[in-house]
Amino acid sequence: MPTPVGEAGPVAPDSSGTAVLEQLAWLRGPEGAAALVLAARLLADGVDLLPGLDRLRAEVGAEHAGAAWELARLRARARPVFGSDADVLFLTADTLEQAGRPALAARRATRLLAGGADSVADLGCASGTDTIALARAGARVLAVDVDPVARELTALNAAALGVDDDVWVVAGDAVELVQSARGGEVAGCGAAVLDPARRAGGRRQLDPDRWSPPWPTVALLLDRVPTSVVKVAPGLDHDRVPAGVEAEWVSVGGSIVEALLWGPAVTSTWRRATVVRGGEVHELTADADPGPAPMGPVRAWLHEPDPAVIRSGLVSLVAAQLGGTLVDPTIAYLTSDARAESPWVSSYRVDEVLPFNLKKLKALLRERGIGRVTVKKRGSAIEPETLARQLRGGGSGTATVVVTRVAGQPTALLCDVSG
Ligand SMILES: C[S@@+](CC[C@H](N)C(=O)[O-])C[C@H]1O[C@@H](n2cnc3c(N)ncnc32)[C@H](O)[C@@H]1O
Repeated sequence: MPTPVGEAGPVAPDSSGTAVLEQLAWLRGPEGAAALVLAARLLADGVDLLPGLDRLRAEVGAEHAGAAWELARLRARARPVFGSDADVLFLTADTLEQAGRPALAARRATRLLAGGADSVADLGCASGTDTIALARAGARVLAVDVDPVARELTALNAAALGVDDDVWVVAGDAVELVQSARGGEVAGCGAAVLDPARRAGGRRQLDPDRWSPPWPTVALLLDRVPTSVVKVAPGLDHDRVPAGVEAEWVSVGGSIVEALLWGPAVTSTWRRATVVRGGEVHELTADADPGPAPMGPVRAWLHEPDPAVIRSGLVSLVAAQLGGTLVDPTIAYLTSDARAESPWVSSYRVDEVLPFNLKKLKALLRERGIGRVTVKKRGSAIEPETLARQLRGGGSGTATVVVTRVAGQPTALLCDVSG
C-alpha cells in the first residue's frame, strides 16, 4: 500500500483552476452526463460551434454549455488514439496535449512491473494516462501532481475506467519527493514513472533544465529509484544519458512519438529503437555504441532509416544488416545493391544521380515524362513542397526526388520513376 504523501507544493487552484474544477463537478453529475451525450451527438452530426452552443445553451443553460461542448470535442479528438476509453475520459486541452499514447503507456507499464514491483509513483499524472495503464497492469498507483485540475482529472478518469480501487491521487511536488527518495523507493513506492512537463506558455522547452520537474530531478530519480522510467524529449542529447541507463526512442508510423530513459534495474541494453509499423512492434538494440557506418558511393537502392533508428544512434547496425554504406558521413541515408525487406528503413530504387541544379532537374524530368514528384530531403535547405510545385510538369509519370549531400556535394537522386 503506498504511503500517502502530505500536501506539498502549490496545491491551491488559481481562479481558472477553480472554474475548471467547478465545471468538472457539474460535468460528472447527471445533468453534465446528459449534456455530454447531446454535445457528442451534435459533433457527430457535424453541427458547427455556434449552432451547437445555441442548442446546448437551450438545454443546459449558458453557464455550462461551453464546458460540455469543449469536453465532447476533446473526447472526439482523443478517440483515434484512446479508443472507446475516450468516450468517458475527463480532459482539458492542456492535459490531452501532454498525454502520451495509451498503448505505449501500457507497454511501458508492463516492462516497468516485470521485475515484480507492485506499487508505482506516477510523478506528474496530468489526466492519468500512465496512472491508468499502471493500474491496469496490476500495480497500486500513487498519482501525484502539483496541479489540482490534473489531480481531479486523474481521480475522475480512474473511476470512469474502473481502476480507482488501485489509485491514490495526492498533491505533491515531484522535486521534493525525489529528493527524499531512499532505499530504492520514492513516496513509499518501489517504482516510479516521471513524465516532466516539457512545454511552458504553449512553447516547447528544449532545455531539459527548464522542464518541470527539471533535469536534476530526472537524474536523481534514475539514480535513487532503479525501477523507474522517465519520458524525455526525443531530441535529448546522448551525452545527458547517465551511465547504466538505457535510452529508448519509439516511433509509430514513421514519426518519433516518445523517448524514454529506463532506470538501472529495468535497463537491459545501451540503446533501443522501437518501431511500430502497421500495428507490429520491432525492436533494435545495441549493448554498446556501434560507431558510425562506413561511407560509399550511391548504389542501386537508397534507404531512409526510421527516425527511431537514427535518434538512437543505431544506423550502423542497420547498414551492416543491409550490406549498406552511408552516402555522406553526416547524413543518415544508406545505399546498397539490393532492395531491403526491413522494418528499419524505407527503400527507394535509384534511377539517376545528378548534382543538384533546378534547371537540369527540370529538364531531366521533362525528358523522362515525369509530371509529378514527391520530394524528400536531408541535409539541404530546400523546402520539399515548394520544390515539388516547381518541378510539376505535363508528363504522366511520377517519381521521388531526394535532395541531399553525397560525399559533401549537393545532389539530387531521381528514384522510383514510374509511368
Ligand atoms: C507531461 S504531463 C504528464 C502526462 C502524463 N504522463 C500522461 O501521459 O497523461 C506532466 C505533469 O507533471 C506535472 N508537474 C510538473 N511539475 C511537477 C512537480 N514538480 N511535481 C509534481 N507534478 C508536476 C504537471 O502539472 C503535469 O500534469
